[in-house]
Amino acid sequence: MQGDKSRPTSAPWVAPLARLTPVKQIDIKTAQVGLIGVGNMGEALLVALLKAGADASHIKFAVRREERSVHIAARYGITAASIEEMAADSDVLMIIVKPQDLESIMERVAPTLKSGALVISFLAGKKIATLESGLGQPAVARVMPNTPTLLGAGMAIVSFNKTVRPDQRNFVNDFLASAGKSIEVEESLQDAAAATSGSGPAYFFAFVEAMVAGAIEMGIDSATATALVTQTIVGAAKMLDETDKSATTLRENVTSPKGMTYEGLKIFEEGDLNGLVVRAMNAAAERSRAMA
Ligand SMILES: NC(=O)c1ccc[n+]([C@@H]2O[C@H](COP(=O)([O-])OP(=O)(O)OC[C@H]3O[C@@H](n4cnc5c(N)ncnc54)[C@H](OP(=O)(O)O)[C@@H]3O)[C@@H](O)[C@H]2O)c1
Repeated sequence: MQGDKSRPTSAPWVAPLARLTPVKQIDIKTAQVGLIGVGNMGEALLVALLKAGADASHIKFAVRREERSVHIAARYGITAASIEEMAADSDVLMIIVKPQDLESIMERVAPTLKSGALVISFLAGKKIATLESGLGQPAVARVMPNTPTLLGAGMAIVSFNKTVRPDQRNFVNDFLASAGKSIEVEESLQDAAAATSGSGPAYFFAFVEAMVAGAIEMGIDSATATALVTQTIVGAAKMLDETDKSATTLRENVTSPKGMTYEGLKIFEEGDLNGLVVRAMNAAAERSRAMA
């Protein structure tokens, strides 16, 4: 009988380890997830994770304050753990602390980070390369959520490094779908996208404040002004979301030549509203770059 020529005859044939140890595929229901930081954004993301079908018994978390830890554990039925323990156990490790706390967190995560784990960073400005070099080149997803995530109406921007596997990518996409919507962008566009949807809710709130001030100035009481403006922005947002018409078409539809809306919008044009907004967004993107 002829032997297998691909196998050495003098020593027992040994397959490469990677072929014998199949990579564990993850999904929302079975993955072990660790959350480092459960503040405003962390709690909204935790709610989304549970809504997406994650099992509370598979989720661990760490915060700094004892009373917060007790509150989160009791409210969501998840288990408090040390950062080191979560790094070692988690298939998916989510970092949701303030950007200035990242360095010290990475020093604690790096020594025990589970091989093949996915790290998801939700930190403004922090680059994938910073997480790769601080954590020993793991799979990394960089996500910039926004505050409507709290209501399941978020708009998240996501970028992946090359190490992220298809199942890990699905995990991120499934999870973000329960927090609202998500769009994948090249990492080079993260700062610009963050200055659009990340800061965006605050721009609209500022506009609402200005309109309420305008209504009050014309003699409407504060509560009525707030009700008028709030329902108007909600209705306008619904029209954008639920009709297939662009913002330009919808604006033109309510602007009769020489009518009252026309007169109002003319003031925006004279004050270069577009230029002002573009400058504001550039300033926000610049700040995001500076936080890298
Ligand atoms: N809020 C937003 O609108 C928004 C939008 C987009 C992105 N983000 C990003 O989300 C991240 C978190 O923002 P946030 O508003 O959720 O901040 P936050 O409310 O201050 O929450 C930060 C969380 O991190 C925990 N933490 C800090 N250091 C820790 C440590 N060493 N060990 C364990 N836990 C630690 C805090 O614990 P304690 O609760 O005990 O203090 C807290 O739970 C930021 O990087 C931000 O850029 C936020």
